[in-house]
Amino acid sequence: MQQENKKVTYSFKNDYSEGAHPNILQALVASNLEQQDGYGEDQYCHAAIETIKEKLQDPNVDIHFVSGGTQANLIVISSILRPYESVIAADTGHISTHETGAIEATGHKVNTIDVKDGKLSPKKIKNLLDLHTDEHMVKPRMVYISNTTEVGTIYKKQELKDLHQFCRENDLLLFLDGARLGSALCSSENDLTLAEIVKLVDVFYIGGTKNGALIGEAIVISNEALKTNFRFNMKQKGALLAKGRLLGIQFLELFKEDLFFQLGNHANQMALKLSENIIELGYQLLTPPQSNQIFPILPNKTIEKLKENYAFYVWSKIDEETSVIRLVTSWATKETAVEAFIEDLKKI
Ligand SMILES: Cc1ncc(COP(=O)(O)O)c(C=O)c1O
Repeated sequence: MQQENKKVTYSFKNDYSEGAHPNILQALVASNLEQQDGYGEDQYCHAAIETIKEKLQDPNVDIHFVSGGTQANLIVISSILRPYESVIAADTGHISTHETGAIEATGHKVNTIDVKDGKLSPKKIKNLLDLHTDEHMVKPRMVYISNTTEVGTIYKKQELKDLHQFCRENDLLLFLDGARLGSALCSSENDLTLAEIVKLVDVFYIGGTKNGALIGEAIVISNEALKTNFRFNMKQKGALLAKGRLLGIQFLELFKEDLFFQLGNHANQMALKLSENIIELGYQLLTPPQSNQIFPILPNKTIEKLKENYAFYVWSKIDEETSVIRLVTSWATKETAVEAFIEDLKKI
């Protein structure tokens, strides 16, 4: 990915360009001078956990709040795997490409699988398992997926059921990275609920950072065997925040009504408007537009013109004349900015 640093009118670089939803800031201010216990033992963390459990329709899960996605991934993976075990991920997966080797730094190999749409399937995983025959190789023990994927696609219920089934049959644990779960669940093509996800994976997390929170991810562990001593591992990795209230307050705001879903929906609506208009102008997208990340394929000359007013990442090269760009919308994306982008593209 190429980074663009020019001063531009509007940024479609990511979904963390803005701060936090005003409800969250107000809740932080309102609780500011209250004294609360530390390290996630405060009343807000407890209330947020109970509220999320209700949404998950599962009182038995363990929930832990951490500050970021890379942290969630490395804590989950390193706390679960034995030293010689590895994790399977798409080659586009966040842990494979964009975490500076954070997983490998904990001693676990990431086995990558080449995919076009960002998604893993039993067949692709089976091929990889077949290559790992004995103790002279790492032992694949976990499957890592993200919903949405790194290329903006989503997992349908049947796909997740198939992965669940395959993992059970092959003694693999299934971990879903939900940094953009809000967008995935609000996709017009989504047929999964939080309550279903919790039954189909061993562990997952609900992303706050990219869906209206200042910071924060909620790790949900449903597999009984993975729950023991999780907080020890969090503490050792520096993830047990003294002011854990900061995370509890935010997740309580996101889930006490349906703010989490409203914000995911807004981000998706803005991306949908962009993609519909881009397609109408005769351009194609790299992957189906299903969430708040879309990947239009544009002539390089058009990309250069757009860069004068907009910030975005150039994702990959198609050929000498054409490249893929990534446009990301967020809970705070202004519709007027989307309209201006479309008008400018029409003029080019
Ligand atoms: C799917 C996914 N997982 C994890 C992360 C990492 O999050 P953080 O930057 O908070 O470490 C990202 C960030 O872009 C992501 O897209």
